[in-house]
Amino acid sequence: MLNYQRIEEIQIGAKQQSAIYNLLKDAFGAYPHDRIYANQLPSFRFLVWDKNTLIGHMAVEYRTINIGQETAKVFGIADLCVDKNYQHKNIATTLLQQLEELGQKSFIDFILLIAPDHGVYEKNGFQLVDNPCRWLMINNHQTFGVGNRKIEDCLLVKQIGSTSWPAGLVDLLGHIF
Ligand SMILES: CC(C)(COP(=O)(O)OP(=O)(O)OC[C@H]1O[C@@H](n2cnc3c(N)ncnc32)[C@H](O)[C@@H]1OP(=O)(O)O)[C@@H](O)C(=O)NCCC(=O)NCCS
Repeated sequence: MLNYQRIEEIQIGAKQQSAIYNLLKDAFGAYPHDRIYANQLPSFRFLVWDKNTLIGHMAVEYRTINIGQETAKVFGIADLCVDKNYQHKNIATTLLQQLEELGQKSFIDFILLIAPDHGVYEKNGFQLVDNPCRWLMINNHQTFGVGNRKIEDCLLVKQIGSTSWPAGLVDLLGHIF
């Protein structure tokens, strides 16, 4: 039986760190070699274990962003992945559902992410939107500017609260998820 765990980033120890690193490396190949995040530490993660083996992962950042003239509380998803031997068993879907439940309890307005492949997200009710975006550009622990453009075919959102997704500039008030 699989064990779904949610863990605050500050509680992650050496064993979990090494398991996360190995899963991210297998899933994303070109992942940074010295850490378990691309740009910045997330707020918390979901981990899926088969006994002592980590087979699923999703990082989440809790953040406020600005959309048009509206301020919104969001969960930003990063690095959703499932071990090859466990894919197509609804594990990613379960993680997205668990995050949605948490978002409802936590009065989150939207869950969002940036991804070129939409399959699993569209299956779970996320919608592709084409607002222009502004974000802090980070590479290898260095800030090198502010991005200001549409992120074509990649910005996916799911409404959690009562507010519909607004039109206008999405100011991420930080790095991209
Ligand atoms: C994407 C990923 C997390 C999905 O995990 P999963 O546990 O297999 O997903 P689920 O079983 O919940 O849902 C799978 C469904 O999502 C859709 N789907 C998943 N990946 C897809 C893709 N690349 N293209 C199109 N549809 C896709 C399909 O509808 C699929 O249905 P099926 O199982 O009947 O074929 C997994 O394939 C993975 O880790 N991929 C490598 C890392 C990655 O690309 N992560 C996404 C980063 S944004």
